[in-house]
Formats: sequence, structure tokens, C-alpha cells
Amino acid sequence: MLIRYKKTYEKIAMGLLSFMPNEKDVKKLMNTIKDYETNDQYQLFLWKQDDVVGIIGIEILANNSILIKHLSVNPSFRNQGIATSIYEEIQKMYKNYTFQFTDEIKSFIEHCNIGINTL
Ligand SMILES: CC(C)(COP(=O)(O)OP(=O)(O)OC[C@H]1O[C@@H](n2cnc3c(N)ncnc32)[C@H](O)[C@@H]1OP(=O)(O)O)[C@@H](O)C(=O)NCCC(=O)NCCS
Repeated sequence: MLIRYKKTYEKIAMGLLSFMPNEKDVKKLMNTIKDYETNDQYQLFLWKQDDVVGIIGIEILANNSILIKHLSVNPSFRNQGIATSIYEEIQKMYKNYTFQFTDEIKSFIEHCNIGINTL
């Protein structure tokens, strides 16, 4: 299930975010976490089964639109449909919104053919 990020999850969140191609630099990663902690428009959620194994970060834009900025799953748990479940849960949570994606996330969404409710 999706749970909202809180500070106690900082290390696991940074570990998961570091798998994103644009979050390899530690300074960049720390700024990213800070953005999610301080900016109300930025929301971070963790995917928890027994452990936390995935993460999704979104930015709430104008006009009921959401940009998915981060989506990542622990390598030991990939190809089990977890990222797909994370995206489907976010769509349910923000069901009146349209979705936009960064280029790398768009490629995943298109590959899995799950991009309903998008612009
Ligand atoms: C991308 C990612 C989140 C997918 O997580 P996952 O839980 O394994 O995804 P699912 O099990 O729901 O889907 C797996 C499918 O996505 C495909 N896929 C994985 N990464 C992809 C990408 N960057 N672009 C397109 N397709 C991708 C897999 O090949 C697989 O396809 P198949 O079912 O046809 O074999 C995971 O690989 C990851 O964390 N990557 C590093 C972070 C990253 O690059 N994020 C940006 C892209 S979302």
C-alpha cells in the first residue's frame, strides 16, 4: 500500500530515489528530498509491503494536473508489477486529475500501457 513520506523514512526514500537516472548526485538527491519535505505542491509516497520497496514522487500543477517526477522500485523486487500498482494507486488517489510524466517515466508508462487518464 501507499504511505505518505515522513522524515523517519528519509534514508530508505533517498536509497530508492537514487535509482532514478537524474538522482545519482548526492547533493541533487538531498535537494530533491528537501523539496518534498518543504513544498506542499510536492508529494512523496512509499510503497510498503512487509518492507518499503518502492517510491513515487509527484508535483501538483495548476489545472488539476499532476506531474510524476519520480518512480522507483528496489531492484530485488522489480518485474513483479509493483511500479504498475504504485501508479494505479496514485491514479485512484488523484482520480480527478490528469497526469503528466518526465520522459523516462513516460517510457515506462507507455511500455506497460497503463497511461489512462493522461493528457
Ligand atoms: C522502472 C521501474 C520503476 C519499474 O518497476 P517494476 O516494479 O519492475 O515495474 P513493473 O513490474 O510494474 O513493470 C515491469 C515492466 O516495465 C518495463 N520497464 C522497466 N523500466 C522501464 C523503462 N525505464 N522504460 C520502459 N519500460 C520499462 C520492464 O521491462 C517490464 O516490462 P515487461 O512486463 O514487458 O517485461 C524500475 O525498473 C526502477 O525502479 N528503475 C529505476 C528507476 C527509474 O529508472 N525510474 C524511471 C522510469 S519509471
